[in-house]
Amino acid sequence: MKILVIGGAGYIGSHVCLELMDAGHEVTVFDNLSSGKHENIFSGELFVKGDIMDEGALDSAMSKGFDGVVHLAAFKAAGESMLLPEKYARNNISGSINILNAMAKNKINKMVFSSSAAVYGEPEYLPVDEKHPVKPENFYGYTKLAIENLLEWYGKLKGIRYAALRYFNAAGYDINGRVKGLESNPANLLPVIMEAAAGLRAELSIFGNDYPTKDGTGIRDYVHVNDLAAAHVKAMEHLGRAEGSFVVNLGSEEGLSVMEMLESARRITGRDIAAKIDGRRPGDPARLIASSGLAASILGWKAIHSSPDSLIRSSWAVYRHLLK
Ligand code: UD1
Repeated sequence: MKILVIGGAGYIGSHVCLELMDAGHEVTVFDNLSSGKHENIFSGELFVKGDIMDEGALDSAMSKGFDGVVHLAAFKAAGESMLLPEKYARNNISGSINILNAMAKNKINKMVFSSSAAVYGEPEYLPVDEKHPVKPENFYGYTKLAIENLLEWYGKLKGIRYAALRYFNAAGYDINGRVKGLESNPANLLPVIMEAAAGLRAELSIFGNDYPTKDGTGIRDYVHVNDLAAAHVKAMEHLGRAEGSFVVNLGSEEGLSVMEMLESARRITGRDIAAKIDGRRPGDPARLIASSGLAASILGWKAIHSSPDSLIRSSWAVYRHLLK
């Protein structure tokens, strides 16, 4: 298939592009490089530098003709979204409207959309399946839910079929070492641990050790970015051959605490990673674990690279080059 990957130079997008090309698809990346990296544009793909706020640029890129769009372009810092909702509303929501309008105009009727477990908010039960109520606790999560709702309407009114993929905690780097562009100023747990291991930051702050969990630290479902990428390819191929749209969780179905991640990282990197206990971060649930049964039944997808060892080894393979 001929696929336009919007946000294809970013952390998850770059892995999706590699997986699409490995499966024999033709990839064009559309990215403004605000957080995406030049080094994440691979040989074999076409690149259009453009912004999703620029309707003309989207229209001109899409006029080349595509079978489908993978949409991963978004701001994703949950904390920042509570301070700067305008920025998140404009880019995430209005930008997605621009993409949908350009798709409708250019008769592209399939989208794989990068959604998030943040649509659920504080979990009412675990594991979280797709029937769980959606009550985002932060504005970032709200933008993802708003876009899912837009997709439903564009589905009804414009015939755009979609797969909304609700990622749990994306982590790790390409297990074949092909992705080299690191995220700038990361706030997520594993890149922060990696930066501390490489000496780029003094220590890890552990946000709370008084949660009702086995060691008091927060538990999350970390899913390897290669597993996420594989799900995008399966989702696009599914849209290509079957009718209908779907919304699925993507998680490993395993819970890992901050402390367990830190201990594993110390063991695997052989580095003495300094850490201190800090206060809880507002809005953080104690535990978040996915049920991914629906992705298994619709797509035949399961996380296979998401063990703590694989998450940490693949990340350290990239971060260890930063060691002073
Ligand atoms: C959040 C969003 C998620 C989004 C992701 C992308 C929610 C509920 N989740 O995930 O949807 O896709 O951000 O940015 O909105 N931690 C520390 N120290 C740190 C960093 C993190 O202790 O320096 C802890 C957190 O308290 C948490 C765990 O590590 O328990 C994971 O945190 P993080 O990687 O930031 O992801 P989430 O907040 O779970």
